[in-house]
Amino acid sequence: MRTRANPAPESVLVVDDEPSLRTILSFIVQRTGAVPVLAPDAATARQLAAKHTFACALIDKNLPGENGLEFLKWLRSVQPGCNALIVTAYGNVDSAVEALRLGAFDYLLKPFEVDALAHRLKLALEQYRMRQEHERMQAMLVQADRLASLGLLAAGVVHEVNTPLAYVLSNLDWLEEEMPSLREGIQRQARESSGAELMALAARVKAVENTLRDIRDGAERVRDIARDVKAFARNPDDSSMLVDLREVLEAALKMALVHIRFRARVVRDYQDVPLVRANEARLAQVFLNLVVNAAQAIPEDGCEHEIRVRLWTGPNGEACAEVGDTGMGIPAENMAHLFEPFFTTKPSGEGTGLGLFICKSIVEAFEGTITVDSRLGEGTTFRLSLPPHVQTARATMPLEPVSAAAQ
Ligand SMILES: Nc1ncnc2c1ncn2[C@@H]1O[C@H](COP(=O)(O)OP(=O)(O)OP(=O)(O)O)[C@@H](O)[C@H]1O
Ligand SMILES: [Mg+2]
Repeated sequence: MRTRANPAPESVLVVDDEPSLRTILSFIVQRTGAVPVLAPDAATARQLAAKHTFACALIDKNLPGENGLEFLKWLRSVQPGCNALIVTAYGNVDSAVEALRLGAFDYLLKPFEVDALAHRLKLALEQYRMRQEHERMQAMLVQADRLASLGLLAAGVVHEVNTPLAYVLSNLDWLEEEMPSLREGIQRQARESSGAELMALAARVKAVENTLRDIRDGAERVRDIARDVKAFARNPDDSSMLVDLREVLEAALKMALVHIRFRARVVRDYQDVPLVRANEARLAQVFLNLVVNAAQAIPEDGCEHEIRVRLWTGPNGEACAEVGDTGMGIPAENMAHLFEPFFTTKPSGEGTGLGLFICKSIVEAFEGTITVDSRLGEGTTFRLSLPPHVQTARATMPLEPVSAAAQ
């Protein structure tokens, strides 16, 4: 695993109303190599936590004004990654259970031993760093898979671009041949002006117009394909927006057309499905991976195969989607490994085995689930469920992308 070179020291929030204890706690934090940031009460600590990110927090349970556990609850909601240690002179089992239930990393009694507390804080910092590293690796894998998918798609895109371009070019050839005689005809007509010749000339002009319309259709298709690819290749960011699964699924099917075309018929069953709050490009990536997998699982056996896509509203109002195929199915012994990174049954150089792992990471990032059903020799169905966007007064306002961090 790669580690960061010379990482900046983490900050640790120390919240205690006793000045002498703040000094001791500050000393302990410095011993771990982190930077202490001191607050005498929860109100000051809230102001600090609104501006800075803390790796850990040492919180006295009995604070003046707001109780330490109430502050812990708030801190966990704004900085879920911060590992909080509750320190108290008035410990009991109930409050320890409550602190751990609220997400405290540890619960320690005063008077504490400096070494023991330093050791617990070191563990909390270590866990924080490992989580950060894990998140960084996840983000890198998402990016790597995006690039791999784009590479895979490049051939398809070129194919899609070449077909309309071919008829743009052949029609242009015809136009180039036609134009000189048209010009000559018009010139002759200008000299001798005959009625029949005028009619023929008009018909030929009409043919030219039709051809020009074909050229425009072709050019517009090229433009649309390029726009789709651009939307997919957009840099990943954490912004989320209201997404219509139908549009995203259709975009993914369009992108995967070259993989599907000669293997299967796409059967759509689109029922009402709620909007979801997610990132459009990432969900497109999920559907694209599923559709490409489905196409790749379909044998070229001369039989009629189907890729079935479904959208519907689940029993609890959730948005549900399904990508199914009538392909080869998955052997039972592989089922438990499908979502593991680098699990692939494809020949080396053909599959990275990251597709489904990334799908799961993306779906779970939007608080959804992904499951699979398969019958060997009959086919496979991947099913997604995502929480519906809940309609609130604000949601009726124009839809602006919002930062995931702001939610
Ligand atoms: N629809 C499907 N039918 C049958 N097997 C599938 C299907 N989808 C996935 N699999 C199996 O799961 C494995 C992992 O899929 P995943 O998408 O993660 O990687 P991959 O397709 O092998 O590689 P990549 O996606 O990088 O091209 C596949 O190699 C295949 O064995
Ligand atoms: Mg795949």
